[in-house]
Amino acid sequence: MTKYVITGATGGLGSRVLKYLLKLVPASDIIVSLYNPSGATQEIKDSGVEIRRGDYGDPASLDQAFAGADKLLIVSHPSMTRELRVQHHKNAIDAAKRAGVKHVYYTSLAFASDSVAFLMQAHLDTERYLKASGLTYTILREGIYSEAYAFYLRFFYPAEDKSEAVIPYSDGGIAWVSREDLGEGTARIMGGFENQTLLLTGSRSITLKEIAAKISSLLGRDLRLVIASEDEYVRVNVGKDGQPSEEFLRTWATTYKALGRSELNVVDPLLQQVLVRELKPFDETLKEAVSFQVQ
Ligand SMILES: NC(=O)c1ccc[n+]([C@@H]2O[C@H](COP(=O)([O-])OP(=O)(O)OC[C@H]3O[C@@H](n4cnc5c(N)ncnc54)[C@H](OP(=O)(O)O)[C@@H]3O)[C@@H](O)[C@H]2O)c1
Repeated sequence: MTKYVITGATGGLGSRVLKYLLKLVPASDIIVSLYNPSGATQEIKDSGVEIRRGDYGDPASLDQAFAGADKLLIVSHPSMTRELRVQHHKNAIDAAKRAGVKHVYYTSLAFASDSVAFLMQAHLDTERYLKASGLTYTILREGIYSEAYAFYLRFFYPAEDKSEAVIPYSDGGIAWVSREDLGEGTARIMGGFENQTLLLTGSRSITLKEIAAKISSLLGRDLRLVIASEDEYVRVNVGKDGQPSEEFLRTWATTYKALGRSELNVVDPLLQQVLVRELKPFDETLKEAVSFQVQ
């Protein structure tokens, strides 16, 4: 019997990994390590898996959460602060070692190994630490969520009366992939793939300009993608949706530098091979999002 521990199971990705892992192994073989066990969803409570508390910021809790695990999925911490994020991931890797975990799976991101994107730096630090840990590992470079398109289009939401999305530096292809497909693929990959770095992407790349055109045709009104200077992008976007600060926007600007280097313009067939079916097309996710947002 192999015991699995899944972190982040209340989140968008981890909840899907759990959903599909439950189709592959008995619930009695699965433990979920939750940051906040009182926030366990009804699906988790009804599934029959064991629930433990595991806070990446509290190593002692991770010792208890990972005890007896053979395979551990570390879902990356949802923070933009590089140092904090890396420290949390190191805490989880160290705890996995202490607990005698046999194989650690880590959810990294699909930017390049020499990425200029700020977002990728914490993942690259973690990848290096995990590889040097001596643990058997699999690094899953998860593709960019199709559901996150509005974030890359600078918070373009169709319900708003907005005709331009302003970005700095460069547009570029992104091999968007749905969180559902990533969740199922990640669950299936937890059967093997020792000491490998895998790239999980959608089956085609689509640029932000192409997405703007798709939204225009869905809405019947014009949306233009404008590539401006970094200062102009900051001026236009600061204070929009969720009130991104200037500091955040300047950090996020590095994402568009990475697009200009085609870092996300890479299609890898692996996910489709693992799922043995077609992936959910980006256009389907976009249609769902646009019709939801204009309701
Ligand atoms: N590929 C992409 O396009 C993309 C996009 C966005 C993010 N990401 C990255 O991928 C990860 C997974 O994505 P997601 O959509 O599942 O994110 P999410 O929905 O924000 O889920 C994050 C999970 O992390 C848990 N968590 C928060 N603080 C923690 C702590 N101190 N210790 C342990 N767990 C903690 C959360 O628990 P609670 O529910 O209790 O807070 C939640 O279960 C994110 O965390 C982020 O690093 C990737």
